[in-house]
Amino acid sequence: MSAETDPVKVMKQEVGKAAAERVKSGTIVGLGTGSTTAYAIQYLGERLKSGELKDIVGIPTSFQAEVLAKEYGIPLTTLDAVDHIDIAIDGADEVDPQKNMIKGGGAAHTREKVVDALADRFIVVVDSGKLVDRLGSTFKLPVEVIPMAIAPVMRAIEKLGGKPELRMGVKKAGPVITDQGNMVVDVKFDSIDNPADLEKTINNIPGVLENGLFVGVADVVLVGEVKDGQPRVYEI
Ligand code: 5RP
Repeated sequence: MSAETDPVKVMKQEVGKAAAERVKSGTIVGLGTGSTTAYAIQYLGERLKSGELKDIVGIPTSFQAEVLAKEYGIPLTTLDAVDHIDIAIDGADEVDPQKNMIKGGGAAHTREKVVDALADRFIVVVDSGKLVDRLGSTFKLPVEVIPMAIAPVMRAIEKLGGKPELRMGVKKAGPVITDQGNMVVDVKFDSIDNPADLEKTINNIPGVLENGLFVGVADVVLVGEVKDGQPRVYEI
Protein backbone atom coordinates (compact mmCIF):
# COMPACT_ATOMS: atom_id res chain seq x y z
CA MET A 1 0.00 0.00 0.00
CA SER A 2 1.19 3.52 -0.76
CA ALA A 3 2.57 5.84 1.93
CA GLU A 4 -0.24 8.04 3.18
CA THR A 5 -0.15 11.11 5.40
CA ASP A 6 -3.85 11.94 5.94
CA PRO A 7 -4.40 10.50 9.48
CA VAL A 8 -7.99 9.39 8.82
CA LYS A 9 -6.89 7.55 5.69
CA VAL A 10 -3.98 5.98 7.58
CA MET A 11 -6.35 4.76 10.32
CA LYS A 12 -8.72 3.31 7.73
CA GLN A 13 -5.89 1.57 5.87
CA GLU A 14 -4.35 0.06 8.99
CA VAL A 15 -7.62 -1.19 10.43
CA GLY A 16 -8.73 -2.58 7.06
CA LYS A 17 -5.47 -4.45 6.76
CA ALA A 18 -5.69 -5.77 10.33
CA ALA A 19 -9.15 -7.19 9.63
CA ALA A 20 -8.05 -8.78 6.36
CA GLU A 21 -5.18 -10.47 8.21
CA ARG A 22 -7.74 -12.33 10.33
CA VAL A 23 -9.25 -14.10 7.31
CA LYS A 24 -8.16 -17.72 6.93
CA SER A 25 -7.84 -19.86 3.79
CA GLY A 26 -10.89 -21.86 2.73
CA THR A 27 -13.45 -19.49 4.22
CA ILE A 28 -16.57 -17.67 3.03
CA VAL A 29 -16.15 -13.95 3.66
CA GLY A 30 -18.80 -11.23 3.85
CA LEU A 31 -17.45 -8.15 2.09
CA GLY A 32 -18.75 -4.90 3.58
CA THR A 33 -19.19 -1.48 2.05
CA GLY A 34 -17.42 1.86 2.53
CA SER A 35 -13.98 3.39 2.36
CA THR A 36 -12.55 1.42 5.32
CA THR A 37 -13.74 -1.97 4.11
CA ALA A 38 -12.40 -1.08 0.68
CA TYR A 39 -8.89 -1.31 2.16
CA ALA A 40 -9.73 -4.71 3.67
CA ILE A 41 -10.94 -5.95 0.27
CA GLN A 42 -7.79 -4.60 -1.39
CA TYR A 43 -5.57 -6.35 1.15
CA LEU A 44 -7.51 -9.62 0.87
CA GLY A 45 -6.85 -9.46 -2.88
CA GLU A 46 -3.14 -8.85 -2.25
CA ARG A 47 -2.96 -11.83 0.14
CA LEU A 48 -4.66 -14.03 -2.46
CA LYS A 49 -2.32 -12.83 -5.19
CA SER A 50 0.78 -13.54 -3.11
CA GLY A 51 -0.49 -17.07 -2.35
CA GLU A 52 -0.50 -16.44 1.40
CA LEU A 53 -4.31 -16.88 1.36
CA LYS A 54 -6.12 -19.54 -0.69
CA ASP A 55 -9.65 -20.62 -1.59
CA ILE A 56 -11.73 -17.82 -0.16
CA VAL A 57 -15.03 -16.72 -1.65
CA GLY A 58 -16.67 -13.37 -0.98
CA ILE A 59 -20.28 -12.37 -0.55
CA PRO A 60 -20.60 -8.68 -1.40
CA THR A 61 -22.92 -6.33 0.51
CA SER A 62 -23.22 -3.81 -2.34
CA PHE A 63 -22.35 -3.04 -5.94
CA GLN A 64 -19.32 -1.19 -4.54
CA ALA A 65 -18.04 -4.33 -2.78
CA GLU A 66 -18.75 -6.42 -5.87
CA VAL A 67 -16.80 -4.09 -8.14
CA LEU A 68 -13.85 -3.92 -5.71
CA ALA A 69 -13.78 -7.70 -5.23
CA LYS A 70 -13.63 -8.19 -8.99
CA GLU A 71 -10.90 -5.56 -9.29
CA TYR A 72 -8.77 -7.30 -6.64
CA GLY A 73 -9.41 -10.85 -7.88
CA ILE A 74 -11.62 -12.17 -5.08
CA PRO A 75 -14.00 -14.88 -6.33
CA LEU A 76 -17.63 -14.18 -5.44
CA THR A 77 -20.64 -16.26 -4.54
CA THR A 78 -24.23 -15.66 -3.40
CA LEU A 79 -26.32 -16.61 -0.40
CA ASP A 80 -28.18 -19.12 -2.58
CA ALA A 81 -24.98 -21.11 -3.01
CA VAL A 82 -23.70 -21.31 0.59
CA ASP A 83 -25.22 -22.36 3.91
CA HIS A 84 -23.09 -20.11 6.14
CA ILE A 85 -20.64 -17.21 6.22
CA ASP A 86 -17.47 -17.69 8.26
CA ILE A 87 -16.47 -14.09 8.72
CA ALA A 88 -17.69 -10.66 7.64
CA ILE A 89 -15.75 -7.41 7.60
CA ASP A 90 -17.67 -4.15 7.49
CA GLY A 91 -17.40 -0.50 8.51
CA ALA A 92 -19.71 1.61 10.66
CA ASP A 93 -20.70 5.25 11.08
CA GLU A 94 -21.03 5.17 14.87
CA VAL A 95 -20.14 2.54 17.47
CA ASP A 96 -21.24 2.72 21.12
CA PRO A 97 -19.54 1.06 24.13
CA GLN A 98 -21.87 -1.99 23.79
CA LYS A 99 -20.67 -2.47 20.18
CA ASN A 100 -24.06 -1.39 18.85
CA MET A 101 -23.81 0.65 15.70
CA ILE A 102 -25.34 2.99 13.18
CA LYS A 103 -24.56 1.97 9.61
CA GLY A 104 -25.83 3.05 6.22
CA GLY A 105 -23.60 6.01 5.38
CA GLY A 106 -23.19 4.33 1.99
CA ALA A 107 -26.91 3.41 1.78
CA ALA A 108 -25.97 -0.28 1.88
CA HIS A 109 -27.23 -1.17 5.36
CA THR A 110 -29.98 -3.54 4.20
CA ARG A 111 -27.67 -5.98 2.45
CA GLU A 112 -25.00 -5.35 5.07
CA LYS A 113 -27.35 -6.42 7.85
CA VAL A 114 -28.26 -9.63 6.00
CA VAL A 115 -24.62 -10.59 5.44
CA ASP A 116 -23.11 -9.30 8.71
CA ALA A 117 -25.80 -10.94 10.86
CA LEU A 118 -25.31 -14.30 9.13
CA ALA A 119 -21.55 -14.37 9.71
CA ASP A 120 -20.14 -16.62 12.44
CA ARG A 121 -17.76 -13.78 13.20
CA PHE A 122 -18.49 -10.16 12.31
CA ILE A 123 -15.52 -7.82 12.50
CA VAL A 124 -16.25 -4.09 12.41
CA VAL A 125 -13.54 -1.77 11.12
CA VAL A 126 -13.61 1.89 12.17
CA ASP A 127 -11.33 4.83 12.80
CA SER A 128 -11.41 6.22 16.33
CA GLY A 129 -13.62 9.15 15.23
CA LYS A 130 -16.56 6.73 14.97
CA LEU A 131 -16.65 5.88 18.68
CA VAL A 132 -19.51 7.56 20.57
CA ASP A 133 -21.02 7.26 24.05
CA ARG A 134 -24.55 7.27 22.66
CA LEU A 135 -25.79 6.36 19.17
CA GLY A 136 -27.24 9.21 17.14
CA SER A 137 -24.98 11.86 18.67
CA THR A 138 -23.01 12.55 15.49
CA PHE A 139 -24.78 10.65 12.72
CA LYS A 140 -28.34 10.60 11.42
CA LEU A 141 -30.01 7.18 11.29
CA PRO A 142 -30.40 5.92 7.69
CA VAL A 143 -33.72 4.23 6.89
CA GLU A 144 -34.33 2.50 3.54
CA VAL A 145 -37.89 3.07 2.32
CA ILE A 146 -39.77 1.84 -0.74
CA PRO A 147 -40.42 4.90 -2.96
CA MET A 148 -44.25 4.92 -2.85
CA ALA A 149 -44.21 5.02 0.96
CA ILE A 150 -41.80 7.93 1.48
CA ALA A 151 -44.43 10.47 2.65
CA PRO A 152 -46.27 8.26 5.20
CA VAL A 153 -43.00 6.82 6.52
CA MET A 154 -41.59 10.34 7.08
CA ARG A 155 -44.77 11.31 8.95
CA ALA A 156 -44.59 8.16 11.09
CA ILE A 157 -40.94 8.88 11.92
CA GLU A 158 -41.83 12.46 12.95
CA LYS A 159 -44.42 11.02 15.36
CA LEU A 160 -41.58 9.01 16.94
CA GLY A 161 -39.69 12.26 17.55
CA GLY A 162 -37.28 12.02 14.61
CA LYS A 163 -36.46 14.68 12.02
CA PRO A 164 -36.34 12.86 8.67
CA GLU A 165 -34.77 14.14 5.47
CA LEU A 166 -34.63 12.45 2.10
CA ARG A 167 -31.02 11.67 1.13
CA MET A 168 -30.12 13.45 -2.09
CA GLY A 169 -27.58 12.27 -4.65
CA VAL A 170 -24.15 13.77 -5.24
CA LYS A 171 -23.30 14.10 -8.93
CA LYS A 172 -26.85 12.80 -9.55
CA ALA A 173 -29.97 14.94 -9.63
CA GLY A 174 -32.67 13.79 -7.23
CA PRO A 175 -32.68 11.29 -4.39
CA VAL A 176 -30.16 8.53 -3.75
CA ILE A 177 -31.46 5.22 -5.08
CA THR A 178 -30.20 2.13 -3.25
CA ASP A 179 -28.89 -1.08 -4.80
CA GLN A 180 -32.44 -2.43 -4.31
CA GLY A 181 -34.09 0.54 -6.09
CA ASN A 182 -35.37 2.24 -2.94
CA MET A 183 -34.78 5.62 -1.24
CA VAL A 184 -33.05 6.56 2.01
CA VAL A 185 -34.36 8.84 4.73
CA ASP A 186 -31.75 10.12 7.21
CA VAL A 187 -33.28 10.73 10.63
CA LYS A 188 -31.97 12.99 13.38
CA PHE A 189 -33.03 11.83 16.84
CA ASP A 190 -32.21 14.02 19.84
CA SER A 191 -31.29 10.90 21.75
CA ILE A 192 -31.44 7.18 20.99
CA ASP A 193 -32.02 5.77 24.48
CA ASN A 194 -32.92 2.23 23.49
CA PRO A 195 -31.39 1.22 20.12
CA ALA A 196 -32.93 -2.29 20.21
CA ASP A 197 -36.46 -0.93 20.63
CA LEU A 198 -35.99 1.82 18.05
CA GLU A 199 -34.61 -0.65 15.50
CA LYS A 200 -37.76 -2.78 15.79
CA THR A 201 -40.18 0.16 15.97
CA ILE A 202 -38.84 1.76 12.78
CA ASN A 203 -38.73 -1.55 10.90
CA ASN A 204 -42.37 -2.04 11.84
CA ILE A 205 -43.51 1.06 9.91
CA PRO A 206 -45.15 -0.16 6.66
CA GLY A 207 -42.90 0.76 3.74
CA VAL A 208 -39.63 0.61 5.69
CA LEU A 209 -37.28 -2.04 4.35
CA GLU A 210 -34.47 -1.73 6.93
CA ASN A 211 -32.83 0.81 9.20
CA GLY A 212 -29.17 1.30 10.05
CA LEU A 213 -29.29 0.30 13.74
CA PHE A 214 -27.19 -2.84 14.23
CA VAL A 215 -27.82 -4.10 17.76
CA GLY A 216 -25.95 -7.11 19.11
CA VAL A 217 -24.53 -8.00 15.69
CA ALA A 218 -20.83 -7.12 16.05
CA ASP A 219 -18.44 -9.67 17.57
CA VAL A 220 -15.26 -7.62 17.37
CA VAL A 221 -14.64 -3.93 16.73
CA LEU A 222 -11.19 -3.06 15.40
CA VAL A 223 -10.36 0.60 15.91
CA GLY A 224 -7.65 2.43 14.03
CA GLU A 225 -6.08 5.47 15.65
CA VAL A 226 -3.05 7.69 15.19
CA LYS A 227 -1.31 8.56 18.45
CA ASP A 228 1.87 10.70 18.58
CA GLY A 229 2.06 10.35 14.82
CA GLN A 230 2.03 6.54 15.01
CA PRO A 231 -0.86 4.44 13.68
CA ARG A 232 -2.12 1.59 15.84
CA VAL A 233 -5.07 -0.79 15.85
CA TYR A 234 -6.80 -2.00 18.98
CA GLU A 235 -9.75 -4.29 19.63
CA ILE A 236 -12.97 -3.70 21.53
C1 5RP B 1 -22.30 1.74 4.19
C2 5RP B 1 -21.81 1.66 5.59
C3 5RP B 1 -20.36 1.89 5.80
O1 5RP B 1 -19.79 0.75 6.34
C4 5RP B 1 -20.20 3.07 6.73
O2 5RP B 1 -20.84 4.18 6.16
C5 5RP B 1 -18.73 3.38 7.01
O3 5RP B 1 -18.11 3.85 5.84
P1 5RP B 1 -16.61 4.37 5.81
O4 5RP B 1 -15.73 3.20 6.13
O5 5RP B 1 -16.43 4.90 4.42
O6 5RP B 1 -16.47 5.46 6.84
O7 5RP B 1 -22.53 1.39 6.52
O8 5RP B 1 -23.68 1.61 4.12
